[in-house]
Amino acid sequence: MPDTTVKQPLPVIAILGGTGSLGNGLAKRWAKAGYSVVIGSRDALKAEQAAQTILEQITGSQICGADNLSSAKNADIIVLTVPFANQITTLKEVQGTLKGKLLIDVTVPLQPPKVGTVQMPPEGSAALRAQALLGEHVDIVSAFQNVSAAHLNSSHAIDCDVLVTGNSRSAREQVIALIEAIGMRGFHAGPLANSVATEALTSVLISINRHHKLDGAGIRITGNPLSDG
Ligand SMILES: NC(=O)c1ccc[n+]([C@@H]2O[C@H](COP(=O)([O-])OP(=O)(O)OC[C@H]3O[C@@H](n4cnc5c(N)ncnc54)[C@H](OP(=O)(O)O)[C@@H]3O)[C@@H](O)[C@H]2O)c1
Repeated sequence: MPDTTVKQPLPVIAILGGTGSLGNGLAKRWAKAGYSVVIGSRDALKAEQAAQTILEQITGSQICGADNLSSAKNADIIVLTVPFANQITTLKEVQGTLKGKLLIDVTVPLQPPKVGTVQMPPEGSAALRAQALLGEHVDIVSAFQNVSAAHLNSSHAIDCDVLVTGNSRSAREQVIALIEAIGMRGFHAGPLANSVATEALTSVLISINRHHKLDGAGIRITGNPLSDG
């Protein structure tokens, strides 16, 4: 019997602030996995240069660069990878393009200089602050807070799991599919309210890195029957 299943095209992913360490690492990994990726930046030329660098490393990848607003307009999934201090300004700029789309927020509410100390915003977490701004018509999923950019930018397999919080189960599932596409394991970690814990955990990991002189401590979920460990 011929296979008559119709394959859905992969979603287009825009990475706002994708010129930075975390966003660029994700862009490379998803481009390598065959996704069409748009690197977003405040400066379109900087985004195009970042995309060109990846294109030279991963021949044939579908990657381009544009300003943050055009990137968000032309994508199905938007990933926000800017510092906490710039989260709301960046979201306000693209807010009009987000209705009905999935937003993956990787923001950690780090407030220098005490980045090893948990300092959560009045809304509870950065992701809850984004939801308060954008309302319920944007599906927000919070993920990747506990993965070091250094690992994402390397070429090795990443020894770290990803905790995924969000109010929509199907939105979390979409994000877990993106995580699995880059060879990692994503776990349903409950509603967006639980991003308080996943975001806070980053400062704990930073403290562990400093004290034990580690380069990008991560987390592993144990007790999983599917575990490869
Ligand atoms: N680095 C990590 O290991 C790591 C791990 C987990 C989570 N995170 C979180 O991921 C997010 C990005 O981290 P990162 O280390 O990739 O940050 P980053 O390299 O310092 O910055 C990312 C991008 O944000 C944009 N940006 C900088 N200043 C801005 C401003 N004033 N207004 C708007 N955009 C601005 C820049 O893009 P353009 O100049 O091109 O606009 C920059 O390339 C943060 O919220 C961080 O807490 C990071």
